[in-house]
Amino acid sequence: MSKTKILVCRDIGDKSMAVLRAQEDWNLVIWPHDRPADKEWVYANAPGSVGMVVTLGEKVTEELVALTGPQLKVVSTMSVGVDHVELPALASRHIRLGYTPDVLTDAVADCSIMLALMASRNVTSSQTLLRSGTWGNLGWGPYLFCGPQIGAGPGKKESTVGFLGFGRISQATLVRIAAFGVTRCVYYNSGRKDRSAEDQALADKLGLKEVKRVELDELARSSDVLFTLVPGGKDTFHIVDEAFLRKMKPTSVLVNTGRGPIVDTQALVKALKEGWIWGAGLDVVEGEPNIPADHPLLHEPRCAIIPHIASATIETREAMAMLCATNLVGGLKEGKIGVEYDL
Ligand code: DGY
Repeated sequence: MSKTKILVCRDIGDKSMAVLRAQEDWNLVIWPHDRPADKEWVYANAPGSVGMVVTLGEKVTEELVALTGPQLKVVSTMSVGVDHVELPALASRHIRLGYTPDVLTDAVADCSIMLALMASRNVTSSQTLLRSGTWGNLGWGPYLFCGPQIGAGPGKKESTVGFLGFGRISQATLVRIAAFGVTRCVYYNSGRKDRSAEDQALADKLGLKEVKRVELDELARSSDVLFTLVPGGKDTFHIVDEAFLRKMKPTSVLVNTGRGPIVDTQALVKALKEGWIWGAGLDVVEGEPNIPADHPLLHEPRCAIIPHIASATIETREAMAMLCATNLVGGLKEGKIGVEYDL
């Protein structure tokens, strides 16, 4: 009996690969390198696959799905984001999609806080000074590398945290940042469901004056720290553009742990250079991972950038990988994907 072909575009780690390897009737075709699979390799090996394991590095396009063939049943991505997958290509063929939300919520929320602090407290420029070996020329200074405080405190009665998107990760980030002394939370999300009772309960629980849904204009104007945590894709492309950034406070900090294209890079560079905002903390950047050494954001002293590692704790990545593997097994063997994306 011929085995079921499974295309594995990335080795997702020993424990989760063992789950895939344990399926004796599966023939795993595995990309042999520790980097995203080359398109040529994917296209050459996809035809005939019934299941597919992908990460953010591989694009699941209409073209790929078509050439893979009508036997394809389940795609399993090791990610919460699905902007690398052309969803209509799957939906129109009744191909199911497994993904990995929830298990990364805490790790991404932790990292979002880290980036807010890095951007507000001048970590990039202070590290540059330190590594240049010239700190001794300046010594300790009363205002050296001072930045805005995140929460309310001496000289600052109110502090507002803003969220573009108010899903699981935003709410986990709010819980964390409440401990820094923020007093209000405003958020924008495109859903029209009335959340006022939940918002009040959240405000009470966290000791905030209010948690309130606002329009984009107010979000930009009132946030002291703004986290962008919406999914990628055409609906959220450049929501944070020049007009938005110009409305922000000069002491505000923008943190993007969502997707790079949410923020218009050119506008952000201008905003940092001209002081429309205080700083930016970025886990994701437009055009990633091809960020050249002369990328303007890498040279902005008030910009802290890390290479899309917000979910990168060992425990979280292992959990994502395991969920990715079990989603595929569940989808193909039991007719039930543990965590399925609603196409
Ligand atoms: C995801 O899973 O989509 C994240 O961006 C990875 O951290």
